Amino acid sequence: MKRERVRAVRGVQDVLPKDTPRWQRVEAVSRDAFHRYGYGEIKIPVFEKTPLFARGIGEATDIVHKEMYTFEDRSGDSLTLRPEATASIVRAYMEHHLEKIGDVVKVFVIGPMFRYERPQAGRLRQFNQIDCEAFGSAHPAVDAEVISLAWEILAGLGLKGLNVDLNTLGEPSDRPVYLEALETYFDGYLGSLCRDCTRRFHDNPLRILDCKVEDCRQVAAEAPTFLDHVSKKSRGIFEEVQRYLLEQDIPHKVDHRLVRGLDYYTHTAFEITAKGLGAHNAVAGGGRYDGLVETLGGPPTPATGFAIGLERLVSLVPEQPDERDERKVFLVTLGRQAEARAFGWAQSWRKAGLSVLWDYEGRSLKAQMKKADRSGAAYAVLIGDDELDAAEAQVRDLREGSQKAVSLDRIAESILDRISQTESG
Ligand code: HAM
Repeated sequence: MKRERVRAVRGVQDVLPKDTPRWQRVEAVSRDAFHRYGYGEIKIPVFEKTPLFARGIGEATDIVHKEMYTFEDRSGDSLTLRPEATASIVRAYMEHHLEKIGDVVKVFVIGPMFRYERPQAGRLRQFNQIDCEAFGSAHPAVDAEVISLAWEILAGLGLKGLNVDLNTLGEPSDRPVYLEALETYFDGYLGSLCRDCTRRFHDNPLRILDCKVEDCRQVAAEAPTFLDHVSKKSRGIFEEVQRYLLEQDIPHKVDHRLVRGLDYYTHTAFEITAKGLGAHNAVAGGGRYDGLVETLGGPPTPATGFAIGLERLVSLVPEQPDERDERKVFLVTLGRQAEARAFGWAQSWRKAGLSVLWDYEGRSLKAQMKKADRSGAAYAVLIGDDELDAAEAQVRDLREGSQKAVSLDRIAESILDRISQTESG
């Protein structure tokens, strides 16, 4: 009886070994940037108590309203797979009194998030984020700093056509006047809005500005802007952020409709777009959220941050021309004697620091050379009975095709020497 295969869940993705080097490169570039900007890594659970997200992200958002993976565990508690990292980091920040570390506490997380969205290009149900948060300062330089950090990671990985879309959502005290202006405006267009936006009109009209339906976008294009309704102080803060960005030559434009899909933002909100993604797909998004710590039961704490979508980012990173692994060696043996010693050689070279593959099945020279070539190794080490008699091996550089005889007890040393020569030269 043929058994049915269990397939992966819709909207999730496997990352295969051929693709992981790119992921690793993206993570290495990000970790290096975080280090230089003074961020420490934090690891947080993938699930939390549901109210953390419901309160933190906002009941009226699409994320909380229809995208959360919420379930009851065996003791009847309502838990949710994290749809984002900010609320969880705020919880951890409060729970472990991270404010004691210093005035400004900077942390980052790399890991999976879960949203029940309609799967399509660039939109998954499990996706990964690089998330960055800075707590403790309301200074506009910190906003400019997190935007510069995101920019540096994206530009450093070779992304093209980068642009920052920027808006200010003002202080919470600016909100009622603006909401009233929005209500008055949208009231005149209720018949043209989608069903979700009719609900949003009653729950939180700000969310209409974020709707992706074309009719709603057209109506929203002419809606009153935050910038016209925020206080002079908020406008000043926004100008400062822009001035810092100009100083850093980071191109940005003000998008009055940018409100982001989460309710916690105040003042600066931003998204970064890049060439190669669909029109509504940002590669990164973030902003300031000065009220969130308080909303979740902590003391007033200014904070700002962003998250980069890793799948979107990896899809945009240009291919490296030659991805052969410098330290990878394929051991090719010919004849019974050499084959019997292959395991021992492989182990000793591995211990010396090389990555070693070999053919366990004693295949032909041609078959082994083909495997060596496909393995991504930079070197093939060929040992046959003749070489054994001479206590030598042929070391072939698979990138250049050159080959030379090396004494058997110096194989690893000679390859490692060559690597360090190319690294220092
Ligand atoms: P977000 O805009 O919801 O912000 O997500 C940030 C990035 O995650 C997006 O720009 C996108 O690249 C990626 N992303 C989001 N949803 C999906 C999906 N379904 N499939 C693939 N990629 C996706 C946040 O999550 C905030 N927590 C960011 C933040 C941190 N704000 C302040 N601090």
